[in-house]
This record gives sequence, structure tokens and C-alpha cells, in this order.
Amino acid sequence: MNSVKHESAKYHVTGEAKYIDDFSVSNQLLHGFVYTSPYAHAKIVSFDLSEARKINGVHAILSHKDIPGENQIGPVIHDEQTLASEHVVHVGQAMFIIAAETERAALEAKKLIKVEFEELTPILTIEQAIKDGELLAPTRKIERGNIAEAFKNAENIIEGEFRNGAQEHWYLETQIALCIPGEGDDIQVYSSTQNPMETQLLVAENLGIKVHEVEVEIRRMGGAFGGKETQANHIAAWAALLANATKRPVKLRLQREEDQMMTGKRHPFLTKYKIAFDKKGKITAADINLNANGGSANDLTMAILERAMLHTENTYYIPNIRILGNAWKTNLPSNVAYRGFGGPQGMAVIENVMVRIAQKLNVDTVKIQNRNFYNLSKNNITPYGQKVKNNRLPVLWASLMKSSDYETRRKEVNEFNKKNRFTKRGIALTPVKFGISFTSSFLNQAGSLINIYMDGTVLVNHGGTEMGQGLNTKMQQIAATELGIDFDNVKVNATNTSKIPNTSPTAASSGADMNGMAVKIAVDKIKKRIAKVLCDAEFNKNIEKGKSKPNNIIFENGFIFDKKNPERRIDFAKAMPIIRFNCTSLSATGFYKTPGVNFDRDSGTGEPFFYFAFGMAITEIELDTLTGYVKILQTDILQDVGESLNKDLDIGQVEGGFIQGVGWCITEDCKWDKKGNLLNKSPGTYKIPTIRDIPQKFNVQLLEGYPNPNTIRRSKAVGEPPFMLGLSSWFAIKDAIASISNYKKDPKLDIPATNDAILLAIDEIL
Ligand code: MTE
Ligand code: HPA
Ligand code: CA
Repeated sequence: MNSVKHESAKYHVTGEAKYIDDFSVSNQLLHGFVYTSPYAHAKIVSFDLSEARKINGVHAILSHKDIPGENQIGPVIHDEQTLASEHVVHVGQAMFIIAAETERAALEAKKLIKVEFEELTPILTIEQAIKDGELLAPTRKIERGNIAEAFKNAENIIEGEFRNGAQEHWYLETQIALCIPGEGDDIQVYSSTQNPMETQLLVAENLGIKVHEVEVEIRRMGGAFGGKETQANHIAAWAALLANATKRPVKLRLQREEDQMMTGKRHPFLTKYKIAFDKKGKITAADINLNANGGSANDLTMAILERAMLHTENTYYIPNIRILGNAWKTNLPSNVAYRGFGGPQGMAVIENVMVRIAQKLNVDTVKIQNRNFYNLSKNNITPYGQKVKNNRLPVLWASLMKSSDYETRRKEVNEFNKKNRFTKRGIALTPVKFGISFTSSFLNQAGSLINIYMDGTVLVNHGGTEMGQGLNTKMQQIAATELGIDFDNVKVNATNTSKIPNTSPTAASSGADMNGMAVKIAVDKIKKRIAKVLCDAEFNKNIEKGKSKPNNIIFENGFIFDKKNPERRIDFAKAMPIIRFNCTSLSATGFYKTPGVNFDRDSGTGEPFFYFAFGMAITEIELDTLTGYVKILQTDILQDVGESLNKDLDIGQVEGGFIQGVGWCITEDCKWDKKGNLLNKSPGTYKIPTIRDIPQKFNVQLLEGYPNPNTIRRSKAVGEPPFMLGLSSWFAIKDAIASISNYKKDPKLDIPATNDAILLAIDEIL
């Protein structure tokens, strides 16, 4: 399909695009505010809201005692309170919520809230948790072969550990919800949520009302990146509780600093590994122990840990392997989904191992990577037992090595480093294999509702949510292409739980795959009906022999016609009144479930993924060893998206995903003090990548000529996989540092490689 523009592009650039904060509501609107815990861990001895409640302009201050339903907001396991009751378990945890006419009134009230705490010792780091803390859930394991035997016979063994830090989502639109009470207990919830169904369920649960009394709607989010997969629920529930208590519309929008302080982040991991390899650098055994900092509650931590475990081997065949996963409870905000969902944390470890093996054997890392790749015909079963089908690694490798001129540039980098004492260059390749599907297999379902109107225009409803990625544009394209009509005659509605119920979150990169199929299924139903009516009522009028058959009816270029008798045709728009006149419905629902996916958590085996998305990146950087400043000179990316649904959108996803990955690897560093206060919670102190971090030469290509069997229009998911290509920037930095020791020493570097971390690593290697 051709590259049409993002359906909201013109509204984005003119500022007409409506986000929840732009909605105009009646002059009854109240604003919601949250009073949060100043302690990472404390007992709430007592509290008194009476003085605060007297402030003029304050309409309600609610505590956990004022929740009519259940004081719970945990999405999978109910282990997270909507408003803290006996204890607070992280700084920024919501304790009270305020509905006020103005921010000033709310601030005045906050000052008058009296709470007596008894401070307790917090656990903040994984190291501390391993020593004194507890697991969020029992240890997980994936195992194949016999590692004990393989280590006994090993030619070489390396051991080590690796850490990665947290990452703030930094969506431009902070968390927001607007709740409008209706008649009876009805409530309309506009929520910046990736997961309208879950928001609906949790609002109903907190209010103690029926699910059909809650309608959740989201037109678009100003970015989400996983940060609104579960955390939007909190904001919606708080706003709904306040709207319910005051019987007035309430809008609750977190300020940037509040958002950064209160919400969870990408999970920090500490991973220990032991690897056996032969003299050619082929890995024979791996013993990998992943530890995630889950924060104060479960949220999606176990699913994230699971995806990390399922991506620890990345693109490499490892015959004997044991992967253990532990998720630790700490006194940080519960960490949450973030683009890649554990995949980046898993892959970073094995890519580090590649560098270390190469250094031991004194060869270029790319050779070790290539030697360990999954093969096309053998050595192609993952540790969890899924076969790696349609393996695109060989074609990506061959094309990218050539297009990036890797071999020449490797030599040039080495030459440059010999000639320059204080400026060093590094180059690195990162391959990615990312499993597409939710590993909780039942989530792999989607729904749609298509309406066609009398002028031939089409309204598409689907269960996915738009967060900038272009999902609605792709749905519009699919409906238009399948119906053979103009893109402009198809509109995609805001996502609404009354239109499409019981959906899955738009996550796991599967939004376009699954909702696209659901749209096609609904369109096909209506096309079938139209074809039958047109044959009966139009094309076969007065025809005795050679009657048109519904199976031969084609929808193309704005016409509906019989391919055997192309003169029997009708304009699409003109046909619609005929269908209605014949009492046939021009509305249909579609339901899709991904076939064949399954995963058994206890045995750690199954086929959790419908397919794999592959990608490869080569990045070259220049490092000022006196300041730690890094410039990305060039990045070449080749990404496999099957047959692209929209090339411009897909390239945008690859570029954006890569840069967000660079942020995690290099610039973004969440720092907490010893009491669990996040120290950098504004754009002034938390450095997301900027235009200066974009590679000076940035060559992004989509792999052409490799359609993906069995998916919507033979496409592939693109949302998350490119994130992990950002690792190539980190490995290029590590390569530049290693050059100082003539590649003899392994720099001590973790993620993120901020300027100061780089300087320490240089110091250590000198
Ligand atoms: N792109 C933009 N512009 N904004 C976002 O919030 N989220 C990413 C990715 N790309 C995101 C984005 C994440 S985390 C996912 S899972 C996918 O989009 C979700 O959308 P999809 O399934 O339709 O690809
Ligand atoms: N990404 C990947 N897998 C997932 C996600 C996600 O955001 N959510 C649930 N499973
Ligand atoms: Ca968590």
C-alpha cells in the first residue's frame, strides 16, 4: 500500500488535534489534584483532613475511606492501592485526592492536610533487595540441554555481571483523565490510556458500579510508549472518584514533575552470567540470572521479566542454556511497561557476552555474532522450544554489511584510533530478533465495528489506541484498500469501550497486526452481503444466462463490478442505498485472534510468538575521552517489516524507536537519593535525546521483498523492535573505550553510558 500521510498530521501541525486537555467542558468543571507520600516507606499513623476541607474552592478531599468500591488499582494482581491506607510504599504514592476550582485552592488545602508518619527503612536497589528484601513472585526458569556437563567440557569460560538503569517514558502529554458524571451512576471517562478496557474495569471497581455504567474513550494520546498501559488507570480512577463525589466533571492532569516522580519506569536489571565457548567463539553453554527491580507492586513486572528471559539469547543459538528470572520488590513506584518490555534488558546481556568473547579470542565482534546466529535449516530452535522460521538474519547481515561498508570503516576506525590520542572512534553492530505477540496468549485478540453510510463513507471503530504511531492511519488504509475506495472516505473513530468491548491493550507492537485483521474480517462480511444483494437486485436483472456470481464481485477504484462481466458495475457510493433498500445491514463487527500461540510458564516452553521481527544496525561514534562527550557519526539500519503497511510511518517508527533506545543507552539516567526521592524529574535535569544525539548520517532502510506470511497485507509489527537497535550506540562507545587498551581490556561500563560513566570506565582501563 502506498504511503498516505498520518491521518492526524494536519491537525498535529496546525494545533487543531484535540487531546483530552483541549476538551471544552461546562463551567462546572473542577480540577483534580493528588496529595502524595513524601516517604519511600512509612506507616501512616493518623491523618486529619478537616482543616484542608474548609478551604474555599475545594469541593472534595478523599482518602481511602471515601472509596465506595475497592481500593485497588493493580491490573493483574490486586497488590496496589488506589489511595494508601496503612502504609506508603514509595515516594509519590497517592494518599488523598482533591477536587478544587483552582490550583491555588488545592495547594492551600494540601498545606493544611495533617499526616503523622512512622518512617520505615526503604529498600531501593536490587542489591539491597537480594540481601534483605523479597521477591514479587516465585523465580522463573527457562532451561534447555545440560549446562553442568557443557561447563565441565568447556574450552573457555567467562563470567560477569551487567546492569541497566531505569528510563522515564517522557510522553509529551502527561497522564490525564476527564470524567463526566451522567444520569444515575453512569460515568463518561476520557482517559489517555493504552488500555481502555482495563481502565473501564478498574473505574467500575473503585466506584463500586457496574462495568456497563462506565464508558471510556480515547481519541489520541500525546505519546505513551508503554507508560499508559497500566498507569493511566490510576489517574482515571482518581478523577472518577472525585467526579462521583462532587457530581461534577473533573479533569486530573499530572504536572510534568509529578508525573516523573509518581509513575514507574523501565525496569532496572542486574544480570549475572557464566558463558562457555569453544575456540571459534561459538557459545556452548550459558547460565544467566536476571534480576529485575520491580518497584513496590506487581503491575506487569512478571510479564516484563518473562519477555526479558525470552530475549536473553537474542539472535543466537545456544545449545545448553539456563535462564533464571527474579523480580524484586522495592520501595520505588511500581516499574511498568516500556517499549521493548524487557527485551532490551535481556538482549543487552548477550550482546555484551559477544564483545567479551571477541576480545578473548582477539577477533572482531561481528565475527562472533555471525558465528552464533540462528541458522536457516539447523540450530534454529529457541531455548523455549519455538522454531525460528523465516529467519531474516542472513539477508539483513549481507545487505547491511555491504551498504554500510562495514569492513572498510572498521579499518578506518582502527587507523583513526592509532593516530588520535584523546579522540577515539568506535563501531558496532547490533542484531535484533523480537518476538511478536503477547506472551499471555489470551491477550492476542482484537475487535472492530465497521459502519458504511448512504453516501458511501465508512466509519471504522477498532479496539486499538492511537498514540502517535499511526495505527489509525493504517486501519484507515486497510479499510479503504479492502473496499476499493478513497482513503478520504474512511474515518477512524475515537476508541470507545461502548463500541468495542473487552479489548487488549495496544501494546506488544501488535496493534496494527491484530486490529488490522479485525477490520478486514468485518469489511469482508459486509462485502459478501453487498456482493449478494448487487448480484440479485442489480447485475442479474433481466439476465437469464451467465448470471453474475457473488464470488466474482470485485471492489476496486471506487467501483463494485463483476470481474467476468466488467460492464456490470456500479459506483460504490451509489450502491449503498440499494443495499439498504434491500434491507441488508451495512454494519458488521470483526473479531480476530492470533492463531497457534501458546506458552506454558511452568515449563518455560511453547510457541509464544506468531513470528519474529528482525532488524540490524551498525553505529559509529566519536568519543572525546577528556570530557566523555559522544557524537554519533553514522547509523545504518535495515529493518524487516514484511510488506510495509505505510513506509513513511514505518521509517518514522524505526527512527523514533532507535533514538529512544539511544536515550536509554547513553543520555537518560534516573537518580534517586538514599530516601527514594527521584532527583531528576524535569527536562532540565533528565536528558532525553535531542536533535544533537541524532546520528549525523542516518540511513534507515526497510527490507524489501520479504513478505510476512499470514499477517494483514503481509506486514510485520514495527513499534518496539527498533528500540533495541539503539544498543549499537552503546556498543560503539564501549568499542571506542576498549581501543585505549588496544582492545585488550573490557571496559567496565553499564547502561546508561553517560559522560561521567564513560570517564570512569576510561579511568579504570588506563
Ligand atoms: N510511537 C509513538 N509515536 N508514540 C508511542 O507512544 N509507542 C510504542 C510504539 N511506537 C509509541 C510509538 C510502543 S511501546 C508500542 S507497543 C507500539 O507503538 C504500539 O503501537 P502498535 O502496536 O500499533 O505498533
Ligand atoms: N510489549 C511487549 N509485550 C507486552 C506488552 C508490551 O508493551 N504488554 C504486554 N505484553
Ligand atoms: Ca512492578
